[in-house]
Amino acid sequence: MSYSIFQSPVKIIYGVGSIISVGKEAVGYGKKIMIVTGRNSSKRTGALQKVVESLKENKLEVLIFDEVESDPSVKTVRIGAEKAKAEGIDTIVALGGGSALDAAKGISAMCTNSGDITDYEKNPLDKLGLPIIAIPTTAGTGSEISKFTVITDTDRKIKMLIGGEAIIPKVAILDPCLTVMMPKHVTAATGMDALTHAIEAYISKVSQPMTEIYAIKAIELISENLPKAVLDGENIKARENMLIGQMYAGFAFSNASVALVHAMARPLGAYFDVEHGLANALLLPMVMEFNRPACKEKLVKVAVAMGENVEGLSTNDGSYLAIEAIKNLFLETGLPKSLREVGVLKESIKELAEDAIVSGSVLFNPRKPSLQEIINIYEKIY
Ligand SMILES: [Fe+2]
Repeated sequence: MSYSIFQSPVKIIYGVGSIISVGKEAVGYGKKIMIVTGRNSSKRTGALQKVVESLKENKLEVLIFDEVESDPSVKTVRIGAEKAKAEGIDTIVALGGGSALDAAKGISAMCTNSGDITDYEKNPLDKLGLPIIAIPTTAGTGSEISKFTVITDTDRKIKMLIGGEAIIPKVAILDPCLTVMMPKHVTAATGMDALTHAIEAYISKVSQPMTEIYAIKAIELISENLPKAVLDGENIKARENMLIGQMYAGFAFSNASVALVHAMARPLGAYFDVEHGLANALLLPMVMEFNRPACKEKLVKVAVAMGENVEGLSTNDGSYLAIEAIKNLFLETGLPKSLREVGVLKESIKELAEDAIVSGSVLFNPRKPSLQEIINIYEKIY
């Protein structure tokens, strides 16, 4: 017997101006709302004000928790959950990039489940978290529709991947207007994160027909629109396509997992604070080169989705075109090109590799890496 599960219970509202629907959506879940957001950007862009107005127009009580840092920590989740519990919060509105959304998921879970967030690194969450309405302001993580959150345990220097139905948002609101203020490098890094989700889900050992449809469409949308969004942040069509593309990638990886790129990216973030999207971007071309022998047919389809002409080519040659297309897209983003440039110490590579190889994501990689092969990949991009 062999069967697959594709889970997507999220109500999705998308398009220009859709942010104003947040109040109406929240009404059904209770009176008291906590907005979980970062310290600056949602205030600077006016997004926070729009959300507050919409909630208040619908006669809801609003508490703002704006202490989420980049790569949210265990401590932030603990503080947020304590505040939410003390105030009797009914619903959480997550507003921001992947960090705000991930923190909101952790807080939602810890309002209803006992113990500490670290208890759920290995154990499933027992109870559904508080309802979440997720409003992304970057186009990368797909966190608004996924069942995963990444919370950093700064004491143990690890990024915990916590997942389950308990933290899937109830509603996702994707308004491209919220992403136009994203700086170039954030657009590039988050976009490369989304591309990595799509490609890793597509070649994953547990991909399935439904995830493959979403993954390949995501690759198409992201590879066409990411350079446009990086070049001109106000290109609203490119911004809209990026939001949709990263959401499709979210559907794909939420059901088919990510793989070796993410396994190797997480220690770069935990040890050297390399932004998640940037870490993936640096690793993606070289890891795909390593994976190529194990997934040539799929890489030919990746090449086609990225606009390459494979007509008349052998599978072998077509698969190389995918690697070239990924490398070219990475170069177009203007992101740093080596681990050295982003402050990684060469003497740490063995330790990074030892962390990466025990990640659960490795299990879904089409080609099983040895410790030495992971070290080699880090060294090649050093
Ligand atoms: Fe990611």
